[in-house]
Amino acid sequence: MKNYSQEIHYTAFGDDFLWGVATAAAQNEGAYNSYGRGLSIWDTFSRRNGKIKSFHKPNIACDFYHRYKDDLLLVKALGFKVFRFSVSWSRILPEGTGRLNKEGIAFYHRVIDECIKLGLVPYLTLYHWDMPATLEKEGGWTSPLLLKWFNRYVTVCAEEFGDKVKNWIILNEPFGFTSLGYMLGRHAPGKKGLNNFLPAVHHASMAQAEGGRIIRHLVTHSRIGTTFSCSEVIPYSYKEPDVEAANRVDILLNRLFIEPALGKGYPREDFKFLEKLQLYSWKYTSKMHFAFDFIGLQNYFPVVVKYNPLIPIVQASEVKAASRKVSCTALGWEINPDSFYRIIKRFWSYEEVREIIVTENGAAFKDKLVDGMIKDDQRIHYFQTYLQALLKAKQDGVNITGYFAWTLMDNFEWSEGYYPRFGLIHVDFKTQLRTIKNSGYWFRDFLNGG
Ligand code: GAL
Repeated sequence: MKNYSQEIHYTAFGDDFLWGVATAAAQNEGAYNSYGRGLSIWDTFSRRNGKIKSFHKPNIACDFYHRYKDDLLLVKALGFKVFRFSVSWSRILPEGTGRLNKEGIAFYHRVIDECIKLGLVPYLTLYHWDMPATLEKEGGWTSPLLLKWFNRYVTVCAEEFGDKVKNWIILNEPFGFTSLGYMLGRHAPGKKGLNNFLPAVHHASMAQAEGGRIIRHLVTHSRIGTTFSCSEVIPYSYKEPDVEAANRVDILLNRLFIEPALGKGYPREDFKFLEKLQLYSWKYTSKMHFAFDFIGLQNYFPVVVKYNPLIPIVQASEVKAASRKVSCTALGWEINPDSFYRIIKRFWSYEEVREIIVTENGAAFKDKLVDGMIKDDQRIHYFQTYLQALLKAKQDGVNITGYFAWTLMDNFEWSEGYYPRFGLIHVDFKTQLRTIKNSGYWFRDFLNGG
């Protein structure tokens, strides 16, 4: 691993580099059944026994709904210029389609207005994993009606917020929500198998491009992106079965969604899993394509894989970081800034990608609140080394224009519940007290040139 210990200075990234924090509605807002909001799949999923660690629920989360003013002041106080947040579909359209909830719309107007007042640039994510529960009953992402529902939702957002919001993110990690939610059953809505996964993938690809077209049409001067999760996939050995296994995993993790978005259709490899999707390619290649202004990359860890004939579809299994004795986060995710550098370069090598923003990156550690302080040196080191890796990619010529840390404050971490803490700010979920961690102060000093 390279030595990333030398100091970095924020000016090296350029004056107009976008420094932000990223959040998501289901993880932060709470107020899950008030002010006219309909339930989302995370509300219903979290009621099912054993789905979420310690039976945690997103009911209150960080109570951002009521505390957004103070929380946005904290974003500002830490020196960030961008606030990335998502709209909860069922807060705006309680049944997902049909009638509008004026109170929900008014809430996002207040958040956006507050950002503007504080000089924060809002980046609005349209879908960060919280499908309205009523639409899930009709099939959610697997339904052929999905596009119709999604188009209506996007149109409402564009018409409501388009005068104030310039920067739009259509989907958050389509591979994340389709694989975890519709293939493996580990995330909401808890569905499994290819019969759910493949239609969900295809509808997400179509919705992603169509959403882009709607915003472009309705919002003048908009800047439109979408985000992709990515992980460098490293074969456990140079033996052919391991290398081939790594290639199959790579297609899924890194290529399945970006290639259709760039106009290439689904990956053409000879991989049985892809056959059905490839059949769609001839008909839908142009519909799945949209010329995004920027691509949001979200990277947390690399994966090492080896051939395993017992695993369906990919015939590969992961060799966990712990067994490889590499340093990792509280969730067992390998810490590897070199890999972050390589995956940025890899995505930049698509000639259709014009601009990259890292729309999420961060780490969970076992934070300890002692005497009102959290000395999270590991997280500071994580950010320093990852930012150095990003800077190196930028200096190599990658048009990388921003970095949004995941995340502002500890929040509801999906099926892991409230335990993994990713925030720059600690949240006591009993009292909602916020405490800025040392990593938050580190960012403040860094962004102030200290
Ligand atoms: C991403 C997701 C975020 C957050 C993060 C940390 O995949 O978009 O919502 O949970 O992972 O696990």
